[in-house]
Amino acid sequence: MRQQHGNKKGLTHREVPRGVGLLLAMALMNVLLYLCLDQFFISPRSAEDPRRCPYGYFRMGRMRNCSHWLSCEELRTEVRQLRRIGEGAVKRVFLSEWNEHKVALSRLTRLEMKDDFLHGLQMLKSLQSEHVVTLVGYCEEDGTVLTEYHPLGSLSNLEETLNLSKYRDVNTWQQRLQLAVEYISIITYLHHSPLGTRVMCDSNDLPKTLSQYLLTSNFSIVANDLDALPLVDHDSRVLVKCGHRELHGDFVAPEQLWPYGEDTPFQDDLMPSYDEKIDIWKIPDVSSFLLGHVEGSDMVRFHLFDIHKACKSQIPAERPTAQDVLDTYRKVLHSLRDTVMSQTKEML
Ligand SMILES: Nc1ncnc2c1ncn2[C@@H]1O[C@H](COP(=O)(O)OP(=O)(O)O)[C@@H](O)[C@H]1O
Ligand SMILES: [Mg+2]
Repeated sequence: MRQQHGNKKGLTHREVPRGVGLLLAMALMNVLLYLCLDQFFISPRSAEDPRRCPYGYFRMGRMRNCSHWLSCEELRTEVRQLRRIGEGAVKRVFLSEWNEHKVALSRLTRLEMKDDFLHGLQMLKSLQSEHVVTLVGYCEEDGTVLTEYHPLGSLSNLEETLNLSKYRDVNTWQQRLQLAVEYISIITYLHHSPLGTRVMCDSNDLPKTLSQYLLTSNFSIVANDLDALPLVDHDSRVLVKCGHRELHGDFVAPEQLWPYGEDTPFQDDLMPSYDEKIDIWKIPDVSSFLLGHVEGSDMVRFHLFDIHKACKSQIPAERPTAQDVLDTYRKVLHSLRDTVMSQTKEML
């Protein structure tokens, strides 16, 4: 003890600055490390919404507190099925009522699709965020999932909805470009999800793609059907294939087409796999649908021409990332808004 004390006291003048220097170097290293990590990872804190519930809980409508996801028992006894509102390859969906809340009850329709159904449920549970429909409960045994009901339905209904006279005010290029930004935000989220890079596979044509997303009452978009979200892991060379059948047409990316010509019959195990850039290829088509044909849509299309051209690159690696596309869309949205604002001011 004494000796230690003596040692401390006995530090030479040269040792003191060396110690301070070492400390400074360590502090600098820490700062650099922090800055680097901050560059590479999107801090979950900044993305977190304080209103969101913890895992396993939900809140919707005017609910003040978070409630636990409903159990099988609660689903069976507390949910009143009203009428059918939709159907896809895996589920039949019913408008239902729970505790005076409107909810959507999805029922697995074909037992052979149970794996897809369970995969979708797992994704729904793990990807709860502003970009995904709110999960209210589920029962694996019964093949049921309960989610928040969105009366405007899927994105397929967008045109009909916006043509209703009560929505005439929101049928503008600004709102529609905002919808496209939200769609691309969802793709960006899926490509950087807490479960790694996820590809939206259930999207072999435009109507199918649109049917997987819901339009919310405040004209925003959430992903709803997550039954086919395979994982891409570039580090481990894990790629994906969307289904086991041959795909046709130019809505799907060129690398999704059978590459060996008409004379060689399609064989699933010979079909090469691909990555998340198939989602980027589809952005211009989905976005063009969302922009529609209102005053200003073509002006917006003109400003998005270059980024859309890049999305349609034949070589997947040359396509921009979803984040690149999102950044460009946001820039276009803000610059066009500013231009219109200054023009309006000049006119006044
Ligand atoms: N929460 C919801 N609110 C309103 N409509 C919904 C909701 N969930 C599903 N739907 C309707 O049901 C359709 C089919 O649902 P989806 O989950 O895509 O089933 P599938 O897995 O069989 O494709 C959707 O396209 C949509 O029209
Ligand atoms: Mg679907």
